[in-house]
Amino acid sequence: MSERNISHSGLRSRYDMGEIPKYKFPADGIDSRVAYQLIHDELNLDGNPDLNLATFVTTWMEPEADRLIIENLHKNFIDHFEYPQVKDIEGRIVNILAGLYNAPEESRFVGTSTIGSSEAIMLGLLAHKFNWRMERKRNGLPYDRPNVVFGSDTHISWDKFARYFDVEPRIMPISRTRFTVDAEDVKKMVDENTIAVGVVLGTTFTGEFDPVQEINRILLEIKKEKGLDIPIHVDAASAGFITPFYEPDFAWDFRLEQVKSINTSGHKFGLVYPGLGWLIFRDEKILPDDLGFNVNYLGDEMPTYTLNFSEGSSMIVAQYYNIIRLGMKGYSQIVKGMMENAHYLAQELEKTGRFDLVNDASHIPVVTFRPKDPSGVPPYELSFGLRERGWIVPAYSLPDNAQETTIMRVVVRENFTKDMIDIFVKDIIRAVNKINGKEDKRTGSSPRKSHPVS
Ligand SMILES: Cc1ncc(COP(=O)(O)O)c(C=O)c1O
Repeated sequence: MSERNISHSGLRSRYDMGEIPKYKFPADGIDSRVAYQLIHDELNLDGNPDLNLATFVTTWMEPEADRLIIENLHKNFIDHFEYPQVKDIEGRIVNILAGLYNAPEESRFVGTSTIGSSEAIMLGLLAHKFNWRMERKRNGLPYDRPNVVFGSDTHISWDKFARYFDVEPRIMPISRTRFTVDAEDVKKMVDENTIAVGVVLGTTFTGEFDPVQEINRILLEIKKEKGLDIPIHVDAASAGFITPFYEPDFAWDFRLEQVKSINTSGHKFGLVYPGLGWLIFRDEKILPDDLGFNVNYLGDEMPTYTLNFSEGSSMIVAQYYNIIRLGMKGYSQIVKGMMENAHYLAQELEKTGRFDLVNDASHIPVVTFRPKDPSGVPPYELSFGLRERGWIVPAYSLPDNAQETTIMRVVVRENFTKDMIDIFVKDIIRAVNKINGKEDKRTGSSPRKSHPVS
């Protein structure tokens, strides 16, 4: 029986239910098939996840992974006593990621799964805040004015941390022509109250990398000259599952001395559905005891240091599936494919003569671009135009100092193949032409001919 073929038996009617409950708890229930179909049909109005070029998040996994996900959907991850194997698998993944991020042999790394990178960033920064405070207390120094230094190119979760946890944000600016931070600004911003410096690989805005090696070098100099040992937290939400495979010789991780904690999103290029993030500390000493809680009401004494208590198990299991299914070789092949496709897209966009590239996927498979003539082809209008064909491509302005620049971004995920890219580029040209045609109708002039785009 197809999904749409709802039987009459037991139903008042197939679709005509009267009003669907929306804002008030309904007194009566309805048949399960009708409930399913009504919600299913309404959700058809959502965008198609596979055409969502805005998202970094995985929208497809192998059927065997889907099977494991369904088999484990009903296990609350926090119930470690009841589900010890999922906990064990989480620990294996923490080990695997610590190795991938070159945790030093002699260190005793620790880590945890989270709901996403946001939670991982907040937990990582909280650990640094606690350590800073303990050290200040130990030395009899004031500990009421912590600050955290990061760029205006970071994700909103950094601002959230500062606001929610009462830490002064000290924001390193970008400039009109450079859309990541200037490492030299670190010197001006840090002081004895700095709990950590945040470094992003790659930024949500353009996909570029903050200068992690330079910032590490500057913090080492400060450590030597002033005795301030300021940790770096690397936000590798996107790069954490790209750089180890694509640029294995590029040192951005625990190979750099001041890098003390790293987050990544399993649900981005870890190739798992939402929501899964990872947080790895270089050494267990960085995770203060005060941040852990022991609970014994689940059957055994269990340490926990997450913000949320309950968490699904399925995505942890799915991450493990990917790791053993693909191995280093499989991830490397997929990453190589995504990077090749991203470079192909950048090249094809440039060939149209209509766009300037902001980032041609230099480190991660993200292409950012802007129309050469933003008044003729307003990016927001182009974004709407593409939506007509189902493509979801965001247009947005850059942070302060470059706020007059509006760009568009395509995240080239595994399913965005060369064939799809060809179709997309044709559609983008069609949308540009349509915008120009519309404009011309409005102004009554003849269609613009100066930039042939098709
Ligand atoms: C650089 C960066 N950091 C943090 C986040 C937040 O990640 P999550 O959605 O996994 O909480 C994102 C999300 O896009 C991101 O791009």
